[in-house]
Amino acid sequence: MRSKITVIGAGFVGSTLVQRLAERDYADVVMYDIIPNMPQGKALDLLQAGPVLGYDSLVTGTNDYADTANSDIVVITSGFPRKPGMSRDDLIKKNQEIVTQVTENVVKHSPDSILIMVTNPLDAMVQLAYHISGFPRNRVIGMAGVLDTARFRTFIAQELGASVRDVQAYVLGGHGDTMVPLARMCTVAGVPIAQLLPAERIEQIVQRTRDGGAEIVKLLGTGSAYFAPSASVLQMVDSILLDKKMIMPCAAYLQGEYGMRDLFVGVPVKLGAHGMEEVIEVELDEGERAQLQKSADAVKELIKVMGI
Ligand code: NAI
Ligand code: 2OP
Repeated sequence: MRSKITVIGAGFVGSTLVQRLAERDYADVVMYDIIPNMPQGKALDLLQAGPVLGYDSLVTGTNDYADTANSDIVVITSGFPRKPGMSRDDLIKKNQEIVTQVTENVVKHSPDSILIMVTNPLDAMVQLAYHISGFPRNRVIGMAGVLDTARFRTFIAQELGASVRDVQAYVLGGHGDTMVPLARMCTVAGVPIAQLLPAERIEQIVQRTRDGGAEIVKLLGTGSAYFAPSASVLQMVDSILLDKKMIMPCAAYLQGEYGMRDLFVGVPVKLGAHGMEEVIEVELDEGERAQLQKSADAVKELIKVMGI
């Protein structure tokens, strides 16, 4: 039987993700939104691209959770994106309402699914979904680190005129101003970037990475990034659905790892058929550890705002 993936929210991130998933041709995809008819229209359009591109994925658009029943993976993108000048945290109360109601419905219809959270503020929303769902920690994962790392890799590759494929990096911590791009561990074809770029230039790239989402929000004028975010979710889905055991930075519920407990923090994890199968503990130096703690403290403040 084919796998089933549901994407909640048929906006920019959701519908671009559904397109990418359909083109993978490894699962049937359901796209849910509260706007009447809109997900049905987008689904039909995507279905009709199948004969041209050669995929058989069944794409369904719906306003009824019954159609999402028994999904293997559910990706939640429903919520409001940032407007220029608005921080991710400003979104919190509005998106808390949406994510609460969505998670309740997802759990009811797909009790064995693996949840991937995308809605911002990501770290707070993934903690909320974990709290509401009652799922074990391996089945609730937040997407941010893959995107933030992709931005870091892009800027390093651009700076050096190198292939993005040769740039390896990790961005840990929360999906916000306190994220922790690990410059010390960034390599280009195995060569540490400290040997390739001066420290001041690396620091500028680190800062541009931290501001990566806001840079795009400002340029777009309305809405936020969606091409790289949907590609980042796709990589996570690939690793889970195909049981590839890839290691990538994701928001994971820590239970003692990195000296933290009961909190979602962006760390390297192994993704496979069971979802988040292992937290990988990389050795951090004192400065990096302090930055990660600062980032975790910022996430705790967000969680306090939600009152959960
Ligand atoms: P969008 O506005 O294009 O789409 C959001 C969709 O959610 C809309 O179609 C809306 O009708 C739907 N929606 C609202 N309430 C709903 C409900 N109760 N049930 C189902 N659907 C509902 O926004 P976009 O650009 O797709 O972004 C979605 C979210 O993802 C935002 O919160 C954004 O900040 C976040 N995001 C997070 C990233 C990350 O790295 N974690 C990256 C990019 C976006
Ligand atoms: C981003 O980083 C908006 O969180 C989103 O692009």
